[in-house]
Amino acid sequence: MALTGNSNIITRKYLDSLLIETRYMNSSVPDQSLTLYGQHFDSPVMTAALSHLDHFMFEGATSLYASAAAKTGTVLWLGMAEDPEVERCASTGAKMVETIKPFADRERIFQKIRHAESLGLLAVGIDIDHPFAEDGSPDIVDGYEMAPLTTAELRDFCSCSSLPLIVKGVLSTYDANEAVKAGVSGLVLSHHNNRIEYAIPPLMALPEIKAGLEKEVPIFVDCEIQTGLDVFKALALGATAVCIGRPLMTAIKKDGENGMAEYLLDVRKQLSKAMAYTGCTSLDKMDPTVIHHASWL
Ligand SMILES: Cc1cc2nc3c(=O)[nH]c(=O)nc-3n(C[C@H](O)[C@H](O)[C@H](O)COP(=O)(O)O)c2cc1C
Repeated sequence: MALTGNSNIITRKYLDSLLIETRYMNSSVPDQSLTLYGQHFDSPVMTAALSHLDHFMFEGATSLYASAAAKTGTVLWLGMAEDPEVERCASTGAKMVETIKPFADRERIFQKIRHAESLGLLAVGIDIDHPFAEDGSPDIVDGYEMAPLTTAELRDFCSCSSLPLIVKGVLSTYDANEAVKAGVSGLVLSHHNNRIEYAIPPLMALPEIKAGLEKEVPIFVDCEIQTGLDVFKALALGATAVCIGRPLMTAIKKDGENGMAEYLLDVRKQLSKAMAYTGCTSLDKMDPTVIHHASWL
């Protein structure tokens, strides 16, 4: 029996309840460029960590996902993938974050981090929110068993390479600070496409988590981000960058690599519009007071 409380629906409702205050006086043409882990990017709009696209869509879809990101200079987050697939995506030239599962076989995590380092990826992620299956037992994905991470284990993963390590699937100040204590270089606020029902929408959790962080690290956000205005709301509330997943799958289904590239460029244009209209004309001028929560929506 399907449970009620779908977190994607709740998250979408929350995003639509956030309204934008305009500030035209003294505004200017915006610049959405971003420096992250020592590298420069044209935009904070990124792909989300998707996996199994060849299975869910069609053969070659993962490669299209990567090449559309490369073509547009978009940071490519990739989900669970075997090494040859990671190598194929990296060979497109896209700046990439490989998201590694919390494999019960911890040696496999170390190997994947070292492999990512040898490919010169931008960073690696671990989705800490995927240890358990629907009944609370350890999940098994593609034959690999998962297990929850301890803070000490996360510390070892952080220090085993020179790559920034980002933890994905954070929705509490508790997890955020355990990860920060372990030495992570970033957090992704996400419920991972409704992994649990009634999850707090990432943008609702963002201000509290950011304020409660024992050490400042980049914060990424995903879930139900569809337009540049959604991206803007996340940035204004304190996100460093924002990831889009399923809408890019739809864009690929419609018009392949070009469809996804166009979608990403449209989102950037919409983001520029929101930045210009609010006077938040660069990422360091983002201001949470331009966002108002309408509880009646
Ligand atoms: C087909 C598919 C595969 C995914 N695979 C992964 C994965 O391997 N690792 C991960 O951390 N998240 C994975 N996710 C979750 C996404 O990274 C993202 O958190 C989620 O889809 C919410 O973003 P969206 O609403 O823009 O799709 C996957 C999502 C989808 C739809």
